[in-house]
Amino acid sequence: MKKSNSISNSFCPQTLFLYGTYKEDNTPNFGLFCWFSYYYDKEMGVMACIGEKKLTKDRIQANKVFSANLVTEEILPIADYFGNKRGYDNDKMNVDIETEKGQVLNVPVLSKSPVIFELEVDQTITMGSSDVYLCKIRNFLLDEYLCDETISVEKRIKTIRPIHTTVQKYFSWDGNLICDWGKAMKEIIK
Ligand SMILES: Cc1cc2nc3c(=O)[nH]c(=O)nc-3n(C[C@H](O)[C@H](O)[C@H](O)COP(=O)(O)O)c2cc1C
Repeated sequence: MKKSNSISNSFCPQTLFLYGTYKEDNTPNFGLFCWFSYYYDKEMGVMACIGEKKLTKDRIQANKVFSANLVTEEILPIADYFGNKRGYDNDKMNVDIETEKGQVLNVPVLSKSPVIFELEVDQTITMGSSDVYLCKIRNFLLDEYLCDETISVEKRIKTIRPIHTTVQKYFSWDGNLICDWGKAMKEIIK
């Protein structure tokens, strides 16, 4: 038996990505995003939706490039912080993180994320307050371990442990509740 509900994506787990952009002064900024998926038109592309006005959106509109860094259990505390602290606050990036430059595009990437897309915006669909970006994947970076075909896919993905999220909660790769959104960052801002 099914029951009609208010519109939401509850019980539809999503993965999380940290979008990296360079600010006007060429230092990195990261924000946390889940409205992320793929499309196909001759090759695979990425579609990303960003709501409201925020620094990540300003920088994507200015440079037309960004990185999308998969969030794993290891980097959840800093990811949660990047999702709850506004880039417009000048001290957002005063945190201890290791970043590098992408290998193809001029985008910052997070050294600790094992799966990273370097993305170039191809088309922008502007709506009321949200924008949808259709992006060409210019590079796909994987930790060396993930490229080892002699190890099963199950073992490789269990090693990196991507986060799942739904109903504003974070879940571990094996399906256990970690915490509500906004709680994991407590480790960072003690
Ligand atoms: C778990 C989580 C997922 C989020 N997903 C999105 C998203 O898909 N789209 C969006 O516009 N904002 C999303 N946000 C909000 C942004 O992360 C937040 O506005 C952040 O401040 C963006 O960084 P910035 O201010 O440096 O641009 C999410 C926040 C959290 C905690």
